[in-house]
Amino acid sequence: MNNFQFCSPTEFVFGRGTENEAGIYVKKHGGTKVLLHYGGGSAVRSGLIDRVKQSLAASGIGVVELGGVKPNPRDTLVYQGIELCRKEGVDFILAVGGGSSIDSSKAIAMGVPYAGDFWDFYCGKAAIQAALPVGTVLTIAAAGSEGSGDSVVTREADGLKRGTGSDLIRPRFSILNPELTCTLPAYQTACGATDIMAHVFERYFTNTQEVEITDRLCEAVLLTMVKETPRVIAQPDLYEARANIMWAGTVAHTNLVGVGREQDWNSHGIEHELSALYDCAHGAGLAVIMPAWMEFVYQHDVMRFAQIAVRLWGCQMNFAHPDVTALEGIRCFRRFLHSIGMPVNFAELGAKEEDIPKLVEKFGIGDGKTGGFVHLSAADIAEIYRIAAHAAL
Ligand code: NZQ
Ligand code: ZN
Repeated sequence: MNNFQFCSPTEFVFGRGTENEAGIYVKKHGGTKVLLHYGGGSAVRSGLIDRVKQSLAASGIGVVELGGVKPNPRDTLVYQGIELCRKEGVDFILAVGGGSSIDSSKAIAMGVPYAGDFWDFYCGKAAIQAALPVGTVLTIAAAGSEGSGDSVVTREADGLKRGTGSDLIRPRFSILNPELTCTLPAYQTACGATDIMAHVFERYFTNTQEVEITDRLCEAVLLTMVKETPRVIAQPDLYEARANIMWAGTVAHTNLVGVGREQDWNSHGIEHELSALYDCAHGAGLAVIMPAWMEFVYQHDVMRFAQIAVRLWGCQMNFAHPDVTALEGIRCFRRFLHSIGMPVNFAELGAKEEDIPKLVEKFGIGDGKTGGFVHLSAADIAEIYRIAAHAAL
């Protein structure tokens, strides 16, 4: 195991009705006037925004509202949010929604105290030195942004989707009520489940040896997702299964399951170009990319792929030919994703093979290499897109 530091300061408030305590937690974490930042309408339609506003009013917290965050959040709304916060003297950002509302909130939080353009943090020109505090009320188990120090935003003008990170933007608190996720369409539930599993796999495939504890934590999250996701697809209001998925989504991405080991993250980078170009859901893009990435790299450590095939999918270990077991595990993953309604290839996702050169160019590694498990060149990435384009069950 490698040396590590792990900072996960977020206060998680979990369970039924907890959104009604939003005001208490904003006050506890020092907020007096919040920007209430949310998405395209689900939280308004369900009455959640009204309940959160009542809770804020009961705690004497002032409120400024900015809705309209789109999935794959855009820089344009972030600029509006920064202006609004400065004008209104906002001292706390409360995100209500999923990864998109939370990431947009984090971008606003880091932009308010910064004299330059907030995009500097996303293009690597500046490191985050200060940010307004952020809290969240989560409505979809997926991106894990409620417990992560990351934010991903798309620049509208040229469609560049980029991420940044710092412990300074980890939420101060996150309210997790599994009931709120019962209104999710099955497709969004499945996209979220795929993203959660991908966050674990990005960490599971590592060159670091002797990491039994994090291997086993990863497997616990994956086994939970394989058990619970079909249950909520069949019965959306199954509270206990929703609860297990919601906590799995948070645990998958606080980095608890990834400390002390090298991580990969190429599948995420490769996917982000798809959701930037086609505006598809991040989880759907991952469903197409991650099995293709696995097929491309599995020979780098056949035994690790065979191990997860046995432990997660119950495959029979073929000791004479472990590569057979490894490939069977990847097939099981793709079949599972298909069974929960995820796309298998470019055509099902709505992507086009002729765009591959453009996707690789926007990925932007030039002659370099990237990735923690297997270092990939631009030609390798093009090949992964091609495998994804033609994938079948
Ligand atoms: O906008 P509304 O109307 O709320 O609709 C949303 C949206 O259409 C809907 N939804 C959310 N909760 C709902 C609901 N519909 C009915 N009932 C509910 N309870 O679901 C759709 C997707 O929402 P979104 O916030 O986009 O989902 P997700 O949490 O998957 O976030 C995706 C974004 O997070 C980024 C992704 O790249 C993408 O931009 N990521 C952020 C990460 C991070 N900050 O740590 C890590 C991830 O790997 C990921 O890259
Ligand atoms: Zn993700």
